[in-house]
Amino acid sequence: MAFVRRTIPNVILLLLLSFLATMTERAICRLIVPTSPSYFLRTTKAVKLSTGNMELVEEEQCSDRILRLTCRSLKAFIFVLEAEYQSNRTSICGYESQRLIAKKKKFKLGVKNSRVKDTRQLRGNYIKDDEEEERYLFDVRASFNRKCSGQHHCRYNLSSDHPGTTYWHPAALRLKYACVPEVAVCKYCNVEVRIPKGNEGGYLKSPGYPLYYPGGYSCGWTFKSSPGERIILTFHDLNIRSPEADGSCIDVVRVREKGNTLFERCGIAAGIKIISNSSLVTLDLIASTKLYPARGFLLQYQVLGCPNISAPNGSYISYDTVTSRTFSCKSGAVFPDTRKENRILECKNGKWNETVDKLPTCVGKKRKI
Ligand SMILES: *[C@@H]1O[C@H](CO)[C@@H](O)[C@H](O)[C@H]1NC(C)=O
Ligand SMILES: *[C@@H]1O[C@H](CO)[C@@H](O)[C@H](O)[C@H]1NC(C)=O
Ligand SMILES: *[C@@H]1O[C@H](CO)[C@@H](O)[C@H](O)[C@H]1NC(C)=O
Ligand SMILES: *[C@@H]1O[C@H](CO)[C@@H](O)[C@H](O)[C@H]1NC(C)=O
Ligand SMILES: *[C@@H]1O[C@H](CO)[C@@H](O)[C@H](O)[C@H]1NC(C)=O
Ligand SMILES: *[C@@H]1O[C@H](CO)[C@@H](O)[C@H](O)[C@H]1NC(C)=O
Repeated sequence: MAFVRRTIPNVILLLLLSFLATMTERAICRLIVPTSPSYFLRTTKAVKLSTGNMELVEEEQCSDRILRLTCRSLKAFIFVLEAEYQSNRTSICGYESQRLIAKKKKFKLGVKNSRVKDTRQLRGNYIKDDEEEERYLFDVRASFNRKCSGQHHCRYNLSSDHPGTTYWHPAALRLKYACVPEVAVCKYCNVEVRIPKGNEGGYLKSPGYPLYYPGGYSCGWTFKSSPGERIILTFHDLNIRSPEADGSCIDVVRVREKGNTLFERCGIAAGIKIISNSSLVTLDLIASTKLYPARGFLLQYQVLGCPNISAPNGSYISYDTVTSRTFSCKSGAVFPDTRKENRILECKNGKWNETVDKLPTCVGKKRKI
């Protein structure tokens, strides 16, 4: 008994000491920041999910530093939404202008010397909405997700965690990650998932993620949205048993819709988007062994598309796709601001590119000008 009584305070003391140590570490960091030319930017905000708050963290730091990702809540895990290396933003690393120019030149030379090919391959296979016109941006989400997603905290070092970046010059690394509360994540098999409206949708991880995934029994999900709404599943991190030498899969992740297979694969991938054609899809994880030591998967489910908008007065919907809607004025009329008969709205990330309630009504076209 006496032994127990003595050890408990010791444990507390130890905890207190380590806490103090981290506090001092932080205090020191804060002291360093103003005297060093480089800086560090962090903003945090909360996003309401149906099951609680999700913390969103945005950070910018020089790519030659270790990035520390942490979630304040122990009952939340990291999920990397965006990670970009911005080669032309070097001021965050504290370069003087002369050095900056020299470095920039060096990098440009490097790009010319066929490095561009390598770096493009390293961007991962995320599907980009925009043309990749910006050559100075490099998407490093895939390696961030591999290293950090599913963890409570994580340390990321670009040059050792993203293959092929050893010779990239120090520049801004912009990062956006979410601390997803465990309760907001569906992690049990054989449930029906109703997809909430809104941009974020929800997340699902395979049981055991990111340590292992189970098998030997049926493990599947049904996703449902409202009639007329299509579904997007994004595998932000897929990591199951690699294919055999002949390319065949032992374990497999499969997405089906009305008896058609939309997606089926094994191995490792990040950023794969699957878009359904209806409001109901099923997902199955088919694994042969009871437990397999790979990460499994983390995916996001969302409703595709923007709010339904009806045609402004005097016009009708002349063309409608998943990502755009064209309104045309009835014959002889035009939209007053553009003087054009047609108006195209584009749906991006759940929002129309023009405020819907600002759409003007068609007016008669003046015969003569
Ligand atoms: C980086 O390059 C892009 C495109 O060339 C430009 O729009 C942006 O302003 C540049 N940023 C800096 C900090 O130079
Ligand atoms: C990051 O990793 C590289 C390569 O392993 C190493 O040389 C470098 O010191 C690391 N950076 C930091 C800040 O620890
Ligand atoms: C999607 O559904 C529409 C009608 O709901 C149908 O006309 C179209 O052929 C379907 N496309 C695919 C690829 O199944
Ligand atoms: C969108 O709105 C129009 C008119 O308000 C309606 O006719 C149409 O059925 C709606 N579409 C969906 C998918 O709700
Ligand atoms: C639409 O336009 C017609 C004729 O220009 C008008 O009579 C009608 O009230 C308008 N409807 C709305 C909702 O503004
Ligand atoms: C919205 O996107 C369409 C198609 O790209 C474009 O024609 C239109 O000008 C855009 N509208 C605005 C307000 O940017």
